[in-house]
Amino acid sequence: MKFLILNGPNLNLLGLREPGIYGTGTYEELCRLIAREAARLGVEAQCFQTNHEGVLVDKIQEAYGVFDGIVINPAAYTHTSVALLDAVKAVSIPTVEVHISDVSQRESFRQISYIRAACLKTITGHGFRGYVEAIEYLKAHLENR
Ligand code: DQA
Repeated sequence: MKFLILNGPNLNLLGLREPGIYGTGTYEELCRLIAREAARLGVEAQCFQTNHEGVLVDKIQEAYGVFDGIVINPAAYTHTSVALLDAVKAVSIPTVEVHISDVSQRESFRQISYIRAACLKTITGHGFRGYVEAIEYLKAHLENR
């Protein structure tokens, strides 16, 4: 089973960026955690981060026929991007939305998620563990289908 782990804008600055909200772990540490947990679960996970919306769309499109599932933290594009919603709908790859912080407890503009409508599940506020939970969820979903 192959999973694509997509992270959107400013998540490359994890550790530096608002540590009171996102914690002190870096993006590299997140990728190492994902690699370790993927190995434990016997799945393949490929991490990718970009600050650009169109690059996320490209990655989702390129995942068609290559990856069995997508874990995506679209970051700020969560709250603005119809293009990401349409891309996930277009490829129909089982997808889980992840947010490190608990967006439900934050500003009103963070209460909208366009991509959510195309996702099997949303995990928010579980920190880096949320990505691992998303992989576990997708693995179980694919095994039971
Ligand atoms: C985030 C929450 C978003 O509102 C924010 O724009 C981010 C990160 C999170 O992981 O908690 O960049 O997606």
